Amino acid sequence: MTNLTQSKDEQALVNLANQVLPAGGFGNLSSNVVIREGKGGRVWDVSGNEYVDYLLGSGPMLIGHGHPDVLAAIQEQVARGTTFFANNEHGIRLAAEIIDAVACAEKIRFVSTGSEATFYAMRLARAHRKRDCILKFEGGYHGMSDYALMSMAPKRPGNFPQATPDSAGIPQRIRDEVLIAPFNDAEMAASLIREHQDNLGGIIVEPFQRLLRPTPGFLETLRELASEFGIPLIFDEVVTGFRFAYGGAQAYYGVTPDICALGKVIGGGFPLAAIAAKEEFMVHFDKNAVAEGEFMPQIGTLSGNPVAAVAGLATLDILKQPEIYDGLFATGKRLMQGLESILKDAGVEAQVIGEPPLFDVFFTSGGLSDYRGMQGNDAGKAARFNATLREQGILKGDSKFYVSVAHDDADVEKTLTAFEIAVKTV
Ligand SMILES: Cc1ncc(COP(=O)(O)O)c(C=O)c1O
Repeated sequence: MTNLTQSKDEQALVNLANQVLPAGGFGNLSSNVVIREGKGGRVWDVSGNEYVDYLLGSGPMLIGHGHPDVLAAIQEQVARGTTFFANNEHGIRLAAEIIDAVACAEKIRFVSTGSEATFYAMRLARAHRKRDCILKFEGGYHGMSDYALMSMAPKRPGNFPQATPDSAGIPQRIRDEVLIAPFNDAEMAASLIREHQDNLGGIIVEPFQRLLRPTPGFLETLRELASEFGIPLIFDEVVTGFRFAYGGAQAYYGVTPDICALGKVIGGGFPLAAIAAKEEFMVHFDKNAVAEGEFMPQIGTLSGNPVAAVAGLATLDILKQPEIYDGLFATGKRLMQGLESILKDAGVEAQVIGEPPLFDVFFTSGGLSDYRGMQGNDAGKAARFNATLREQGILKGDSKFYVSVAHDDADVEKTLTAFEIAVKTV
């Protein structure tokens, strides 16, 4: 039984979206809901239905929607101007804050999206090592560039290390420059790195791939081999940065890459992302500091945008408060453990995986350590589970619960009640 109703206004907007947007949407969440506003850990659609929000704008809203400190900072800045192209104080201060927090960050460059950040990170690695080939992991998501859209979600996974393009329109030659390995298989990664060391410009990995934790030793092996052969190691921390710890996944898992891509949380809900790396890499962005042919231009109209920067700074200020991460992890653990025990009591074959700030349930009893294991998820059950949660006023992405610092006891209680109902439908 659904608790939702759709108003004429929302229906009209959905119809209009179907006329003006391909597939009726922005390409993100399914297009049958139109969100009107958010506050703290909740959002409301145009019909007025209220949801506990585990979508969190696909991750940026870690401290919740409309935090008063963030609002005040934005409002003050908006009145002073919204973009200048020239350096601004807040962007400079945000860069300094990120450098303080993130182990591999000695210098920063800002971009507007995570896709751009990983795109530049890979180019930076290639420029530094003067090789073209990138090693990435099957199922790893690094945004929308040609290099990134290789074996991200292959329908028919090929033989390793052959890449399968995920999009039409990618030149065949790019495919030949990407090698694919299974996530969490240190042995296979090591043998591919040894075999192809001479061609590899960089290794890119999500340290926590989608919902998969790295098995002990996996990231360490990548780190060791990258150092041994002088191949730049890139962590894509667009999701994990400032989420798993203030210092990101590199602090949480204790492995420091050479280069990282950041996004989502650092923009406080605005389009801002960054490439951060050790000085020896970032020097490629400085024309006067490198030889001709080693320089990488990096220009963006909105890079370091002051509104995004104040939102990011205010967000990081909140995250620096004592016990913020303890609270976040406690909320995530209650949800994960609650869901696990409801599934167990109902005798449903399933596994709740991830880390407390970011998790989901997989309806399979098979191994879940790489992309192919994740394909064992019963898609029908997952769809029914998600649809029932939506009907019960729980908003989430297809395969993720993003937990917020703003989720409170009432949100958790409501979610656990919805879990009870949703688990019965699978
Ligand atoms: C790990 C990872 N990298 C890169 C991106 C791309 O970021 P954006 O959507 O800001 O371009 C995402 C987006 O979800 C991501 O999850």
